Amino acid sequence: MNSLTTALCERLGIQLPIFGFSHSIEVTVALAEAGGFPVFGAARETPDKISEDIALIKQRLGGRPFGVDLMYPKLAGDESSREEAKRKLPAEHLAFVAKLKDKYAIPAAVKPNFFADQIRNQAFFDAQTEAVLESGVDAVVTAVGLPRQVVAAAKARGKTTFAMVGSARHVKAARDAGIDILVAQGYDAGGHTGPVGTYTLVPQVVEASGGLPVLAAGGVGHGRQVAAAFALGAQGVWLGTAWLATREYGTPPVLLRKILAARSEDTVITRAHSGKPCRVVKSSWSDEWDAAGAPKPLPMPYQHVLTGELLAAIEEHQVEPLVYEAAGQSVAWFNELTTVREIVARLVSETEAALDEMNGNLKAHNP
Ligand SMILES: Cc1cc2nc3c(=O)[nH]c(=O)nc-3n(C[C@H](O)[C@H](O)[C@H](O)COP(=O)(O)O)c2cc1C
Repeated sequence: MNSLTTALCERLGIQLPIFGFSHSIEVTVALAEAGGFPVFGAARETPDKISEDIALIKQRLGGRPFGVDLMYPKLAGDESSREEAKRKLPAEHLAFVAKLKDKYAIPAAVKPNFFADQIRNQAFFDAQTEAVLESGVDAVVTAVGLPRQVVAAAKARGKTTFAMVGSARHVKAARDAGIDILVAQGYDAGGHTGPVGTYTLVPQVVEASGGLPVLAAGGVGHGRQVAAAFALGAQGVWLGTAWLATREYGTPPVLLRKILAARSEDTVITRAHSGKPCRVVKSSWSDEWDAAGAPKPLPMPYQHVLTGELLAAIEEHQVEPLVYEAAGQSVAWFNELTTVREIVARLVSETEAALDEMNGNLKAHNP
């Protein structure tokens, strides 16, 4: 028990109301050990790898709870292979990508890479879901879409269900589906995001929640915001960008330099990543797609079919100007390489100080 333990913490069996999304197993383990609730991002994983990774996390966590997050976006097409989808790519887009490859002298990738090897389609989402449902994970998080059958199947297996929501309009569907916990993720967030800012979104979701617990996500990097999240009616916070600045994540050096140097205004919402609006750290990738004369990014899943090999090569060869990752406005608070435990400890002490300061200000005003 500590000063920030909430009813939700007690229900989930954690010490701190700090939830974290990460693609990293090491971050997932470290956040659980620091007393928070980790959610492993599996949307970029094959079903087999998902089963393996969850088994490993479960073994390392020794009974501490954790979740897994999958994305369920609406797709503009449902081809069964990248080859089939490639036949639909417009010549203008292919020429644009070929030009980028020449301009930045990018060698081909040789290592396997999700974006170069996979295509998002319904069969893939179903297989990912099956792997998660059959695993020993405690919680399932749905993002960028809310399939009722997935929520029902997760609940039938005794798993806690979370839904990412970007608008108060989405709360009813989440409640009707039987979601247990709402994550109100605002415009400030890294990754796929909607147009409503976190500060505006959270109280709207709380009002519409019918008493379901709400977590505040998007832009959180300081304990003042954790204190504010409680004031907005949330029972915890959910962070994603923070972990890119940790030793546990193992961020490649070029990306790490960009993350540590970035201010809030150095992130941008672009469709050039996946075809859907996604907040990323600015780079020549977003600039090139934004430049006059550039083609409009293709809808999901075609944008990754078009760019997957090039993105894999950019990552593998760390092509400096083009390297990027999803990152939120919270990036401003992560300026040095640190650890998950240090971030959690800083957030806790800043939150306690902010709550004291708030109480002091209120008393001073109304002695
Ligand atoms: C690198 C990265 C990848 C992300 N991918 C996903 C994802 O696959 N599913 C999801 O629900 N959220 C994803 N998000 C969003 C996070 O869950 C979280 O809501 C967001 O990071 C919160 O805002 P912040 O980035 O300011 O901390 C991602 C965020 C980052 C930074």
